[in-house]
Amino acid sequence: MCGIVGYVGDKESAPILVSGLKKLEYRGYDSAGVAVVGRNQLNVVRATGKLRNLENRVVAEPPAGTIGIGHTRWATHGRPSDENAHPHAYRGVAVVHNGIIENHLALKEELGGSGHVFSSETDSEVFAHLIADEQERGLELKDAVRAAVARVRGTYALAVVCAQDPSRIVCTKDASPMVLGLSVGQNFLASDVPALLEHTRDFVYMEEGDLAVLTAEKVEIFDREGRPANRPTRRIDWTPVMAEKGGHKHFMHKEIHEQPRAVADTIRGRVLLSEGDVHLEGFGFTPEQVRAITKVTVVACGTSYHAGLAGKLMIESLARIPVEVELASEFRYRDPIVEPTHLCVAISQSGETADTLAAIKEARARGALAMSICNVIGSAITRETAFSLITNAGPEIGVASTKAFTTQLVALYLLGVKLGRLRGRLTVREAQRRLTHLTEIPKLMEAVLRSEGAVKRIAQAFQAAQGFLFLGRGPMHSVAMEGALKLKEISYIHAEGYAGGEMKHGPIALIDDKLPVVVIAPRDPQIAYEKILGNIEEVRTRGGKVIAVLEEGDEQVRKLADHAIVVPPAPALLAPVVATVPLQMLAYHVADLRGNDVDQPRNLAKSVTVE
Ligand code: G6P
Repeated sequence: MCGIVGYVGDKESAPILVSGLKKLEYRGYDSAGVAVVGRNQLNVVRATGKLRNLENRVVAEPPAGTIGIGHTRWATHGRPSDENAHPHAYRGVAVVHNGIIENHLALKEELGGSGHVFSSETDSEVFAHLIADEQERGLELKDAVRAAVARVRGTYALAVVCAQDPSRIVCTKDASPMVLGLSVGQNFLASDVPALLEHTRDFVYMEEGDLAVLTAEKVEIFDREGRPANRPTRRIDWTPVMAEKGGHKHFMHKEIHEQPRAVADTIRGRVLLSEGDVHLEGFGFTPEQVRAITKVTVVACGTSYHAGLAGKLMIESLARIPVEVELASEFRYRDPIVEPTHLCVAISQSGETADTLAAIKEARARGALAMSICNVIGSAITRETAFSLITNAGPEIGVASTKAFTTQLVALYLLGVKLGRLRGRLTVREAQRRLTHLTEIPKLMEAVLRSEGAVKRIAQAFQAAQGFLFLGRGPMHSVAMEGALKLKEISYIHAEGYAGGEMKHGPIALIDDKLPVVVIAPRDPQIAYEKILGNIEEVRTRGGKVIAVLEEGDEQVRKLADHAIVVPPAPALLAPVVATVPLQMLAYHVADLRGNDVDQPRNLAKSVTVE
């Protein structure tokens, strides 16, 4: 949802900005631009479409200067076009903005009344006009930015340069993400860490309302009231290679294949096998608080919501606490029942999804215990919650979430065991058994990845299908939903994920000889194996094409299915971690065969920081 970078130092800024934007293109990719200040002159270059269009322009006519800001856009106000692309400049002031100005119409009208002419349809351009006005009234850039921000209602991560003062970038944020990258003789800002990893590992996460002034030599931060603020510097261990494709055709492909490693990293150091317990760094809830929990409420969006659905079964089974899973966008706008004995768990890869952030704030305000499962340390949601269970998936760049999902499942399982132990619902021996299962999962995922050839052949057979149905029962219901979501996100084929038992109540009407039906059919009585066999028969009778995800050695399902994807057996609660992988690969290959932009599917954004 828009990516921002900024650079000040002694090197030419344009190539640094463009390379930083490349790492952020997943956040928005309908247009991009840079503004560079050189010899007291502002040079703005912008281009509609993918970043390479901007790159071509920058290479053809490099804007000279050692200070600059850049932006990659995901349109909210005004269609994608060169004029609507950021940076927006007015009288020597250039701004890049991520967020939404709610009162932009009123501000535009007011500014228009005093002679301002706007050159874009965006809300963001208002910032350039307000700041230029304040400067003309005699304020220095820092104070002009603060004064402008005070007139705006909404959310922002904002970076500003101006021709009159080519030594500094001023940036500020409220609700939209912004990190500062520190180095010697040069400093950086960005929406996200991967943009800067090739330059530095030392980052400062700005807090809500913070304003920073960056020069080549130093970074000064001020809080909302304008007082100097001391924010901790964090060293980030992600390597730049972790945020690159490493020989894969797409980030999504790389991220699918990284899952055994990502899952192992999420488990590492947390499983205490000999004690039959789980160590969660920072878990500060007391045993009394945990024993008093009467309900767990999960709030999340998209893929993270599906992880929550699988997590419900884990926590209910391991800790025997009732779990409700809510779409964050719904939870925040109703009048939810929240008690101090409720534990609210926000799940978010990015840690910055606006709806999830608002939902967890709401739960906290109503007195619930609050925790999060996030992939990004220091992100807004982690800062909003007393305890964060970090999924160590590493940076996820492909817009369609893969390794974040499977690591979220593992985190939920760890949480389930932890709560189960603290509440006396799991004996040491039982916890040891459950945790041993968990440690075997990366190996099983590796085995599934080896079946990619078979999955690709199925993708070839069905790449032209008009629709897909995914069916699963128990823990596999959420897998069916996630499989359908993956497919529609990147292949643009309509897909539905249904609980097997619900098929007769509607989707059965869709079945004909053109409909591929993916049935996730593990041979586990706990997942109603017999019933899912019934579903397969019902599909076959109506001519539907059955693609079965089945267990090694299951000849019964193999005989019934038109196509088979074989997975190793896994215990019911953890089976989703394994069974999701072939569905990710299926979606990936269908989309790739159709020639789609797999990593940056149309209309989607990796992190949705607006409602
Ligand atoms: C967007 C992404 C999805 C993601 C959802 C929630 O819609 O395209 O892949 O699942 O946001 O994101 P979060 O970062 O909160 O998990």
